[in-house]
Amino acid sequence: MDAPDTAASFSYRSLHNLPEAAGLGSIRDMMQPGLSVAEVVERLKHWHYAMHRLWRIFLSRLTAEPVYELKMAWSYHAYLCAEQVTALRDGVAEMRHPPLGLEKIPHDALCLYFDEIQASPSAGPLIHAVYRDALPALRDSMHRHLAETNHLADAPTCRVVQFALHDIETMYQWGQEAAHSPYADDAPDFQLLTDCLLAAGGIGGNYCAPQEKSLTPRHAAQPFQYDRTPRRDERFPDPYNMGVHAEEFLYTPEFPARAKTLMMYYKRLREIDLPEMMAGILVEMPDKPWGFYRDMTRQLWDEARRAMMGEVGFVSQSIAWPEHVVVNFT
Ligand SMILES: [Fe+2]
Repeated sequence: MDAPDTAASFSYRSLHNLPEAAGLGSIRDMMQPGLSVAEVVERLKHWHYAMHRLWRIFLSRLTAEPVYELKMAWSYHAYLCAEQVTALRDGVAEMRHPPLGLEKIPHDALCLYFDEIQASPSAGPLIHAVYRDALPALRDSMHRHLAETNHLADAPTCRVVQFALHDIETMYQWGQEAAHSPYADDAPDFQLLTDCLLAAGGIGGNYCAPQEKSLTPRHAAQPFQYDRTPRRDERFPDPYNMGVHAEEFLYTPEFPARAKTLMMYYKRLREIDLPEMMAGILVEMPDKPWGFYRDMTRQLWDEARRAMMGEVGFVSQSIAWPEHVVVNFT
């Protein structure tokens, strides 16, 4: 057979100079073979595993983490991860018949990688590991996929990846700022984390061929124990004092509107204990359908937002709540 026309001799044009291929890319790009369905499913399962582990890491640490800002951020990031877990699960389900094998750990070294992060001895190493190692690795793996796959045949995955990249960027940006906080001045064992990823072939399994590494668990040498005791930072000095009954105050007709508004801010900020409590349910209640965890994580994030609405309310009234408002447990 004669060789097909080269690009130079065959100039193909869309009609009326409209964008070709629905804007997915160029026809030339779509002539590339891309990745097989099996390879795409492998990627999705790796990313699903990573997002699921991050989701659990955020939840399993936010109750006992004293600093309010971290509780709020991890509530948000757990929610973003849960949304991505859902999208990645759906992506696998479109390409495979059940059982989908989503519980399967893609590689033991990847399991150790996340076990090490989960067992970080304090918030600093955890922040550096999640936001300066895991999320950049995940982002790189997804960019690699976008560069390698066929954007026509694999368009649904590309879309899932683009949304995931948006959420990863949101988390990453927060993490870059947080990593500069004096609260996060201790770093993890990056060498062990790097070795784990090299042994697994990367967080998405598409970075390199799995390498021989001798991996010795450090913080993950003991199984992780979820700490269900809520802890608060110094702005919450008297959490067990039940002296304030917000509801009684709000339903007393003679109190003025402004006082009630301030009490509403108080009631909102006090909802910080809902993420602390709900995280425990999510971490300690195994074997529910994924939709249960997704919905509960959304509610957890809604409760965290309410706490921040109270914070915003006090600041909007120039009230220094850390000095003047004693926020207790509900
Ligand atoms: Fe609430």
